[in-house]
Amino acid sequence: MLVSAKEMLEKAREGKYAVGQFNINNLEWTKSVLLTAQELQSPVILGVSEGAGKYMTGFKTVSAMVKAMMEELNITVPVALHLDHGSYEGCYKCIKAGFSSIMFDGSHYSIEENIEKTKELVKIAHTMGLSLEAEVGSIGGEEDGVVGLGECADPAECKAISDLGIDFLAAGIGNIHGKYPENWPGLRFDVLEKIKEAVGDMPLVLHGGTGIPEDMIKKAISLGVAKINVNTECQLTFAAATRAYVEAGKDLQGKGFDPRKLLAPGADAIKGTVKEKMELFGSVGKA
Ligand code: 13P
Repeated sequence: MLVSAKEMLEKAREGKYAVGQFNINNLEWTKSVLLTAQELQSPVILGVSEGAGKYMTGFKTVSAMVKAMMEELNITVPVALHLDHGSYEGCYKCIKAGFSSIMFDGSHYSIEENIEKTKELVKIAHTMGLSLEAEVGSIGGEEDGVVGLGECADPAECKAISDLGIDFLAAGIGNIHGKYPENWPGLRFDVLEKIKEAVGDMPLVLHGGTGIPEDMIKKAISLGVAKINVNTECQLTFAAATRAYVEAGKDLQGKGFDPRKLLAPGADAIKGTVKEKMELFGSVGKA
């Protein structure tokens, strides 16, 4: 059964570890993430972007697939199915489709409009038993064609949004989706500290989890980050493993052309990445 992410993230914040959000794109990725979470007895959040939802033919398909897969694989650890960077309309679609958590990314609206829409979505999400993540200050890089500027969030705006009854908050602190450029100056811990002071116990979310050095991840967790999103790193390991398999000509040997065989090295590579992150975030054994 899917659970809202509220309780798992409150426990993580209290226990000074973070729960990983791993974005899924298809059956293989979903299976790899769920099996790894179960093996490591870790809570987990499956992230679905609007683009990935569309690719999988719609949020209803995703929700049905994840629920059925959890039953067939006997997954007993806490799993939240979460809309990543949702639009206002996307949030409603996921509530209807049976997701257990949504992110409303209103960071591109004016703060007034972000507040108004977030307030409305908090009410409906909570009535339906879902958790809600809100965002202040856009996060750098590009995701599904939406380009952010990598700005840092204003602590006063963070306070205004967190007072709306949201469950966890994504606030830009110099983090970027995708690969970090060589001249990236690092996370702005001074800003994170001010945000923490302003929002108190609210669990904080760090987007752009790919490529952040381990010491910065640990410091961010110590300052209140309880959820870390990882997408690009799984894509990179999946692509590298598939490429190695094809370049070695293995797809042309025996039954290598079988799509199940062709996708197996990539799916295994994702398991490795998820394991590495769960160990780094400290969520192993916390189910
Ligand atoms: P990366 O693709 O940089 O890992 O970021 C993922 C993310 O933040 C999804 O919201």
